[in-house]
Amino acid sequence: MGEVDPAFIQAPEHRPKLSAREAQGIPLIDLSPIRSLDLDGDFSISDGIDELVKEMGSACKEWGFFQVINHGASLDRRQKIEAAAREFFARSSEEKRKVRRDSVKVSGYYDTEHTKNVRDWKEVFDFTVQEPTIVPASLDPQDKQVTQWHNQWPPHLREACQEYARDMFKLSMKLMQLIALSLGLPAKRFHGFFKDQTSFVRLNYYPPCPSPHLALGVGRHKDAGALTVLAQDDVGGLEVKRKTDGQWLRVKPTPDAYIINVGDIIQVWSNEAYESVEHRVMVNSEKERFSIPFFLNPAHYTNVEPLEEMTSEENPAKYRPYNWGKFFVTRKRSNFMKLDVENIQI
Ligand code: SIN
Ligand code: FE2
Repeated sequence: MGEVDPAFIQAPEHRPKLSAREAQGIPLIDLSPIRSLDLDGDFSISDGIDELVKEMGSACKEWGFFQVINHGASLDRRQKIEAAAREFFARSSEEKRKVRRDSVKVSGYYDTEHTKNVRDWKEVFDFTVQEPTIVPASLDPQDKQVTQWHNQWPPHLREACQEYARDMFKLSMKLMQLIALSLGLPAKRFHGFFKDQTSFVRLNYYPPCPSPHLALGVGRHKDAGALTVLAQDDVGGLEVKRKTDGQWLRVKPTPDAYIINVGDIIQVWSNEAYESVEHRVMVNSEKERFSIPFFLNPAHYTNVEPLEEMTSEENPAKYRPYNWGKFFVTRKRSNFMKLDVENIQI
């Protein structure tokens, strides 16, 4: 057992408790009531989904985190991307670095993410569906270059990412419809924001760590986008900070479920009816862990601000508008440091 590099060591107050009990904690929501509905059409409470909408609303309000089952996403394509991720991260560092992400490319491999100035114990491969839209305009990337870049990846990895991203986008749109209804909005209120989405799939690999009491796979943070849809394997390690008492709760893996969390953008759109919640990832000394989040993000040109319907004279806007593309690029440029939404609060 070696020692870990000091760059990975968390301040004492942020170190995980290895003895923490695994609790189901976050709500488990059965999505079967919407499986029979035509999700490309508009669905409404009259379709007999009022209970589901209520359940979703209280999960967003009380937890900001929940799991979904009977979600309709393909298990086959999930297994395919999980296998592609395992195969990719088992390659040599030299091989992995051939498809390295850099300051221009937003997709690719890297292993130096820092969260709040402490290095995360993980390796990552990002797959952004619409690559050029979030690269600074001055670099003027061409679609051709992006295609060439994607073509340098292992083909099965590229294919698995493309197919999986499509599935996750569909599932996210179902969830956004339910969230809209739970806020008293028309089901498709949010759809327009995602026409030119900057969403991406992330493959996370957490190798075994000799000092799991000192380091974290991902340090405490909130997600900056709209919604996150996470597939985790059966090892476990995700912890969520409970809103009521600030306790860190471990999320017990549920086979084939997805873990959903509200991001900063929904917090702003809903003018804090729903809030994005802190979470972090523990590592362990024996087992490697894989997880695959899909980050649902709006178009780069979106000005994120509280929706008019969510504000009133008694409840004025709590945030001033900010441009998502600029916000995102600044975040990437500053050594992948995460900016907190509090910075743009009024
Ligand atoms: C993350 O929050 O960035 C990763 C979550 C996980 O790996 O469980
Ligand atoms: Fe996260």
